[in-house]
Formats: sequence, structure tokens, C-alpha cells
Amino acid sequence: MKKQNLVVVGGGSTYTLGMVMSLIEEKENFPLKSITFYDTNAERQEKIAKATEVILKEKYPELESFNYTTNRKKAFSDVDFAFVQIRTGGLQMREKDEQIPLRHGAVGQETCGPGGMAYGLRSIKDMIEVVNDVREYAPDAWILNYTNPAAIVAEALRREFPKDDKILNICDMPAAIMVSYAKILGKEIWDLVPEYFGLNHFGWFTDIYDKEGNKLTDDIKNAIKDNGFLPEDSEIINDPSWIKTFKQVETMLNDFPDYLPNTYLQYYLYPSQMVEKEDVENTRARQVINGREKRVHDQCETLIRDNSTEHADLEVDIHGCYMIRVAASLAYNNGDTFIVIVENNGIISNLQDDAMVEVPASLTARGPKPFAVGSIPTFQKGLIEGQLAFEKLVVDAWYEKDYNKLLQALTLNRTVVDAPRARAILDDLIKENKEFWPELAKK
Ligand code: G6P
Ligand code: MN
Repeated sequence: MKKQNLVVVGGGSTYTLGMVMSLIEEKENFPLKSITFYDTNAERQEKIAKATEVILKEKYPELESFNYTTNRKKAFSDVDFAFVQIRTGGLQMREKDEQIPLRHGAVGQETCGPGGMAYGLRSIKDMIEVVNDVREYAPDAWILNYTNPAAIVAEALRREFPKDDKILNICDMPAAIMVSYAKILGKEIWDLVPEYFGLNHFGWFTDIYDKEGNKLTDDIKNAIKDNGFLPEDSEIINDPSWIKTFKQVETMLNDFPDYLPNTYLQYYLYPSQMVEKEDVENTRARQVINGREKRVHDQCETLIRDNSTEHADLEVDIHGCYMIRVAASLAYNNGDTFIVIVENNGIISNLQDDAMVEVPASLTARGPKPFAVGSIPTFQKGLIEGQLAFEKLVVDAWYEKDYNKLLQALTLNRTVVDAPRARAILDDLIKENKEFWPELAKK
């Protein structure tokens, strides 16, 4: 097996240590020659990188090199894979994305509704730059992007790089949900074969099979109806916010029993409830700053101080393992099935071709080969088309610097609906995003 050179773009992320642990766990499936971290924030990255050095020395002695840098040429030259996880504006801007809509009585969420729009308009420019720079120094590298909001980012990359067939956008949420299905069934996630359709953070599992072809969907649905639903992946299993989110799946399934929903549908189907349970002074960003970020930085300090992993409580998570197995399937032509984001082109037969849809695909060295979904029912189609129009309008607005299209986008979004409310939220978001958004013109 050829050993791979990997760059992690956004090396300073709070997810990086989990990724490193996952790279170690998966080293036989995806053997590495080198790992490089790249970040624009040298200080934030250095802490994670110094801790990573300690981990790798103990657990990956066969790795030939580990480097971290803020220099793109050094970072991207000759890599085989770029894992891209950037967050323009950081968790500070995530907090604003969540608080501003909430102050107007609308859902305040990282990737859904106005927050997702704001984050999308920040991410597009940096993502385009990252892809251009990777291409300059590593024309053949696979770019696995899980930068959020993945739906909007994927649509922007589709438009900007129409001929580049080595960019793949992915999200770990379907996998994190499947970890819980696996637990219910007493199986491993890798034993399950999903049938799924939708947009990113906006989809449904239509069926779950095992590798022998047995349909397990009803076992899962019945278990959820009888016993509820909980997160099982190590990263989120004890997190009160994720526990609440997974519990909502039971409600969604009772109201709409046809398919198993992605957890993110809660924001679109129960917006009022989602607003009611929020505390504007302690939204998810604040919880992550005081929770995951603090925990990861404490782990780094322990690792660096001890120069050993002995006292650091490190865990492998599905987020990392999923991305790595995706990469392995592309690198070694495994043809394994993963849920990924690709251009529709008839996969969902009654949806426009140029939608970026989230569906299962066999991943080969020639890229994703998605499976046909066929025609989807009216309820899901209606929801998807509204959301898709929102996503397209946001990307249009970024290219055209068009205020009115953003007003249309927010008015269309199920988490906002009212035009005056859309305008009020939009005007507040503009004030806070001056540094990041294009300057918008009004008609
Ligand atoms: C899931 C989603 C990601 C999202 C993350 C947020 O993993 O798929 O797109 O960024 O959740 O989690 P957090 O714990 O930061 O709220
Ligand atoms: Mn996601």
C-alpha cells in the first residue's frame, strides 16, 4: 500500500487531536508517510501541534515526518490528501451567528437558517483560496472538505471549480447517527449499509441494511419508539446538548414515521421549540468554548508537560475515522459506500440536476459513484426545494454582492419566514460581519 502525505488545513481546530487519534487507529487502512498541519493562527495551531508531536512519537513511530506551518507552499507541496476544516471568524463569530437570530426570535444555529447563511458568506472566500492554493502546489491531491456550512460551501465550490473532480465535501452527522443505530442493533457502524437522501444537514435514512442484505430499518424505528434515541459516539455521548438533539429524533419519527431523520431537521421542523430551549448568553458556541475547547487545550497542556500520553484522556471518534475511511476508499480504490455530498445529476430523479445532494456513493480511485435514489415523496421534496433555493440564493448573493437575494433567502428559510424579521436579522448580521462579507448592494 502506498503511504500517503496528508495536510490538515485548520490544524488548530479542537477536532484535530481526535483526528490524530483516528489516524493512529486507522493506520492499517490508511498508512501515512507524513502529516502536516496548516493554520492561519500560528499560536492556536502550535499548542495542538506540540501535543500531537508527543502522541505521534509514542503511537506512530513509523511516520516519517510531522510538520506544522502557516506557509501554504510548505503545507501543500506534494500532498496526496488535504483534509479541510477551517472556521473563518472562529468560535467568536459562531457565537454571533447563534445570538443574532435568537434575539429576533429565530433559530440561532451554526449551519441552519441565518447563522448558517452568515457563516457560509464568511467561508466561501477562504475556501476558494484554500482550493486554489492546494491546486497550485498539489494538482492531483484529493481535497476532502468538511468545512461548514457544508451545503453552502459545496455549492460555491461546485460553481467555482466545475472541472475539478477531486474535491469531495462530506459531513460526519449521518455517520454519528449510524453509530447510534449500530449500538441499538448490537453491531459496528461498518456493518451497516445506509440508504439516504437529502441536502447536507437536511436528509433522511430511507433504509438501513446489514452487509448480508437484511433490512434493519424497522428494528431501529421500533427501538427508537420504545426506548428513545441517544448519541453513542465518544465525542458527543456525554454532551447534554447532543443528548437533547438525539432525543428529538423520537419526536420527529412519531410525527413523520416514513423515514429516519437527520438530527438537524429538528431546526426546520420545530423552530419554535428550538428557540424556546435556548439561552442567548449560553448558545452552543459558548458551550464549545467552555467545554470541548477547554478540554482539548487542557489535554494539550498535560501531553506537553508529561511528554507522554499516559495521563491524557484521548479518544478516537467517528468524525475522524469516517473521513479517514473515505480517504482510504479513494486512495486504494476500495469502492466502499459512504454518505457524501455530490452534484445531483439525476440521482434524485425529481430534483434539479445542479443541486448538491447528500447520498450514499461507492468511493473509488475515480471518485464517488453515487447510487440512484429515484423519485422522492412530496413532503421531503417540498422541504428540500425550499432549503435548496435558500442555499442557492446565498451563493448567488455572495457572487453578485446582492442584499436583496439574502433577504429572499432568509424569507424562504423555514427558520425565519417573516420578511420583516428576515430584514432585521440580515441588517444585524451585516453589521457584525463587515470584516468578512462582501459589501452588498441594495436594489
Ligand atoms: C456535527 C456536524 C458538524 C458540526 C458539528 C457541531 O458533527 O456534522 O457539521 O460542525 O456537529 O458540533 P458542536 O459540538 O461543535 O456543536
Ligand atoms: Mn456536518
